[in-house]
Amino acid sequence: MNYNIAVIPGDGIGPDIVEQGKLVLDKVGEKFGHSFEYKEVLAGGIAIDKVGEPLPQETIDVCKKSDSVLLGAVGGPKWDNLADRPEKALLGLRSELELFANIRPATMFDQLRDACPLKDEIIGDGGLDLVVVRELTGGIYFGERGRQGEKAFDTMEYGVDEIKRIAKVGFDIAMKRNKKVTSIDKANILENSRLWRSVVEEMAKDYPEVEVNHLYVDNGAMQLVINPKQFDVILTGNMFGDILSDEASMITGSIGMLPSASLGSSKLGMYEPIHGSAPDIAGMDKANPIATILSVAMMLRYSFDLEDEAKAIEKAVEEVLEDGYRTGDIMSKGMKSIGTKEMGSLIASKL
Ligand code: NAI
Ligand code: MG
Repeated sequence: MNYNIAVIPGDGIGPDIVEQGKLVLDKVGEKFGHSFEYKEVLAGGIAIDKVGEPLPQETIDVCKKSDSVLLGAVGGPKWDNLADRPEKALLGLRSELELFANIRPATMFDQLRDACPLKDEIIGDGGLDLVVVRELTGGIYFGERGRQGEKAFDTMEYGVDEIKRIAKVGFDIAMKRNKKVTSIDKANILENSRLWRSVVEEMAKDYPEVEVNHLYVDNGAMQLVINPKQFDVILTGNMFGDILSDEASMITGSIGMLPSASLGSSKLGMYEPIHGSAPDIAGMDKANPIATILSVAMMLRYSFDLEDEAKAIEKAVEEVLEDGYRTGDIMSKGMKSIGTKEMGSLIASKL
């Protein structure tokens, strides 16, 4: 099959890591008989410099016509004081492409056990492997807001259809994993959480194989630290998901390791590392490309239904870590220190 991928290198380390993501994709193509065609487009600070706006219409058009989008990172100190900041491109793309589901796996590699801040008895055998499914285009971040004299307000609203579509993403992902969904809300207080809970319960009937439970968000935050192994898929709204996915990612270690996907109702998704543009190490061959390479694996899994290929990438990453190779952010004593390019090539060669 031939797949068209819109590529947005962006700013800072963006171009460094995206190059390695493409290298690994090309190797997958060679090995499994697919062809990936890239169309590079502008967004972020570089787009401001070149065409005067962070998200040019051409970028939106190319993304919409592609099978998926690979994004590096956008932003940097150079553009911090502008009214139209580079980060606007991210929100713009999410809404233009109607990407309402943010998927963030938090997977701990055994080889990086030292990077996890939790005690051994909490982690036990087999490391950690959970995924947060966060609603991305609704809830309190998109509700009516304003000022009235000395007051300010934000509103949190969810409609049945909005909850249904994110819940379906959560259940479908659970079916491909360990068949367990924990829905996190604040239904003891919030009316929209009570609606959320009832919609999730209703959907659970369509997925008899999936075990479902509900937690209040304050308890959920606590459980992530004291008993993270109980989770497989965490399904939650926009604001709770924002907070819980950061919490979940940190219990697995370095920011340079963690991928993400933003999905909508079609197969078109946007894939990016969770970290930013790291201007401090841009262009120095120091950035860890693994978060981007694992994002590419997610692209194969969620946009192209190429599960074997996705697993092959994940296994290649693990093998390179097992061999002791580390970029600076995950370096520890006795390991072999390498740069961005070498990490990308080693992973590609394991394929
Ligand atoms: P950051 O994630 O870029 O960097 C935080 C720290 O982690 C830095 O010390 C950096 O060197 C390190 N780091 C990040 N990614 C790494 C990697 N792959 N390998 C090794 N080390 C890595 O966050 P920061 O510094 O808050 O933001 C920098 C710029 O990125 C800002 O302009 C910010 O707005 C933007 N940003 C963009 C995002 C995106 O495009 N999705 C997300 C977060 C921030
Ligand atoms: Mg956040």
